[in-house]
Amino acid sequence: MISLEGISFSYYNRIPALCDMSLGIKEGERFAIIGANGSGKSTLLQIMSGLIHQSEGKYFFKGREISEHALRDKGFLRFFRERVGYVFQDSDIQLFCPTVLDELLYGPMQLELKESEALDRAFEVMRILNIENLKDRPSYMLSGGEKKRVAIGSILTMNPEVLLLDEPTNGLDPRTQCFLVELMLALNDAGKTIVIATHDLSLVGELDAKVTVLSEDHRVVTTGRADDILKDESILLDVNLIHEHIHFHGKSSHSHLHSHYLFHRHKDRE
Ligand SMILES: Nc1ncnc2c1ncn2[C@@H]1O[C@H](COP(=O)(O)OP(=O)(O)O)[C@@H](O)[C@H]1O
Ligand SMILES: [Mg+2]
Repeated sequence: MISLEGISFSYYNRIPALCDMSLGIKEGERFAIIGANGSGKSTLLQIMSGLIHQSEGKYFFKGREISEHALRDKGFLRFFRERVGYVFQDSDIQLFCPTVLDELLYGPMQLELKESEALDRAFEVMRILNIENLKDRPSYMLSGGEKKRVAIGSILTMNPEVLLLDEPTNGLDPRTQCFLVELMLALNDAGKTIVIATHDLSLVGELDAKVTVLSEDHRVVTTGRADDILKDESILLDVNLIHEHIHFHGKSSHSHLHSHYLFHRHKDRE
């Protein structure tokens, strides 16, 4: 679904952010990009979302090349935007409408859906995210966890095939983190491709994701299953995620509980 071939990017042509990165993400996969601060995770997600464009290399989405030039075509831009949703790390950047409901309607309106269809989607998403009671609130009157739900909701109402989530659980309370993990698993069950950028190793484990590890010099070190990567202390040490290791042990008991919770909830639903 997503194929990156030898992607490089520098900010202002002098601050390197990505060096010769290649990776592939299959349809329906749960995929995590991990690396220390500054390794290039957010930049990579922004390239995948078509917000910025690589200086070198090629990006293919469903076999079609994504470039500044290709996205100038309105029809193709729409094809791409309908299918790829990007959730910013900072919800405040993403939320700009007067109310939560307006936020959820914005995407469908951009896609020129009928108002009744847009409203149906907005209410369905509010139900799934349990934010119906926030419908008329402005975003500055929301907690961090509520903002994150609304930010994700504003993407879900466009019903994309791929969700790119930058540090989705960062700075959120354990209950909201747990909710988001369950949500990502449920969306993946429903066929959506989930791509996250994170340095939260326990999250990677809970999602049982395929993992690409980025180094501090902005290169892909390796790609593998979460199980194998999380066991590989030398790689985690090399890429400066070993500091997170303490964190990881501290959190792993939590993550186990979360998984049980998810499992039971999932069974209830069936
Ligand atoms: N807007 C920006 N302007 C200049 N440099 C940036 C900008 N955003 C990121 N960088 C630099 O690019 C590199 C990769 O950053 P980023 O993709 O944000 O990494 P991560 O998300 O892994 O923390 C870092 O060296 C960072 O300082
Ligand atoms: Mg980042």
